[in-house]
Order: sequence, then structure tokens, then C-alpha cells
Amino acid sequence: MYGGKYTTQQLLALKEEHKTCAAIAAFLGKPPTTVVNWFAIMKRRSNRTLYIPDLHIPAMKEGFDDWCLLKAKKHGCTTIILGGDVIDNDYLKRYDPNLDYYNPKGEYLKAKEILKALFEKLKDYEVIWILGNHDERMNPKARRDRTPSWFIKSIRDVYGVPDNVLMTEKFYTGDTVVKHAGYGNIKPHVNLRDIEHCNAVVFHNHSLSALHAVRTAGGFYWGCVVGCGIDTEHLACEYMRTNKTKFIWSCLVVDNKQPYLYWHPDNWNTDMA
Ligand SMILES: [Fe+2]
Repeated sequence: MYGGKYTTQQLLALKEEHKTCAAIAAFLGKPPTTVVNWFAIMKRRSNRTLYIPDLHIPAMKEGFDDWCLLKAKKHGCTTIILGGDVIDNDYLKRYDPNLDYYNPKGEYLKAKEILKALFEKLKDYEVIWILGNHDERMNPKARRDRTPSWFIKSIRDVYGVPDNVLMTEKFYTGDTVVKHAGYGNIKPHVNLRDIEHCNAVVFHNHSLSALHAVRTAGGFYWGCVVGCGIDTEHLACEYMRTNKTKFIWSCLVVDNKQPYLYWHPDNWNTDMA
């Protein structure tokens, strides 16, 4: 609320009708500086972004999306960036004659259902989906099978991704660069930060969740790698359980340039040995 009385929607409607802060101030009988301040606060609030890491749907940890969205609400985020590997797609590359749940078709249908529910929750946000290696798994598979490229559907069509979702491999928010992977396994966020000389967010390393800042002659920058939101016990995770590294459940909120890396409480409560 602005001035304890006006909502964001009401202010935007006033702006639409009266055009300038001075005209709004005259209409409301307020000092013009008060109205200017309200719009300055609104602008700051719109510069708040939630980053959701690898979900590997259908293997998303139950309730993980809701936990992330609580953080978005807490900070008043208007933008959500999905960090890639949103879908697992792992069974697509396997041959499995079983007609049980775990075959390529079963996994696809389950993933589509969960993804639909997720996008319903995100419908009021501006959403950016950074494409990860798992999201695009179907394309190398199709190429190996010699399927012509014009015969391959886009991920948007295959999974019914809504129009409010922008899909891209790399994204700049203005002061932060976002990529899924490709900058090493030990400190990818530091590498990307130092290559681009700006704030950087990376994903992909499920067992790494960290924030590192540096001050150079060029300025103050931070880099962040954001764990994941995968259910370790899920059937689709079977192939991941052989990895020596374990998962860290976390999400990132950037609130007016200030990063907040949140670690899910289950990190301390679950035996992932
Ligand atoms: Fe991943």
C-alpha cells in the first residue's frame, strides 16, 4: 500500500489516467514529492527477481516450488527466472520396453502435468526459462536418430509452455547475467562473474550453493550458484543416485541488487548419505 491507502494497481490506473505525478498529486490532494516517492518505491519493488534452480520435473521435491514462491512473496518479486533443467527428460534417451510408469512416455506425461500446475502458479509473473542441458535432451536424441530438424517440435509446443514465459539460453537482467552451465564444476559462478565483469547466476551443479563477491577497479560484483530442487528419492533420480555429490535445496532472490541465497530447512533434516 502507498500512503497506507493506495494499491499498486490503483496507482498504475491513476498514472494511466493523469499521466504525470504532479497531476496525480493534484487529483489526490497530496504533495507532488509524496507521489514521486511512491513511484520510486514501486520501481524498486519491480526490480526483484526470484531464481528457481534445477527442478528436473517430474523429480521435483514436493512443495519446493511453493517454498520458493513464499520467498518471492516475501520480497515482492515480479520476475521469476527458472534456471534450466526444469524438466528431466532423461528417459527419452533410453529404450525401455516396460509399459509401467517409468518409460519415456510415462515420464513425459507426468512432467507435462506437473509443469502445467507450476505455470499456473507463475501466471502473474514475468517468467524467463533459461534452457538447460536436460531441457534440450530430445534434440540430440532426435539428431542421433536422423530425424530432420524441421520435423522436431519446439519445447514450447511439446510441453505447452504459456506465452508469459520467455525461453532463452542466456539472459541479462540489466546488471546480472544468467546462464545454466558451462563455466566449470568447482566455482562456475565466480568464473562467469569474472568473465562478464558483472553479477552472475549459474545453476547445473546440484550440490553447490554459494555466493561470492569481489571488488575490483571496475566495481563490486557477486556471483551465485544455486543448488537445486530435486527429490532424491524420486524414481526418476535413480541415475543421479550413483553420483558421489549430493543435493543442496536452495533458491535465490535478488532484491534491488542485493542477493539473498535461501537454503531449504530440509537440508539439515534429511539423511542423504
Ligand atoms: Fe540439472
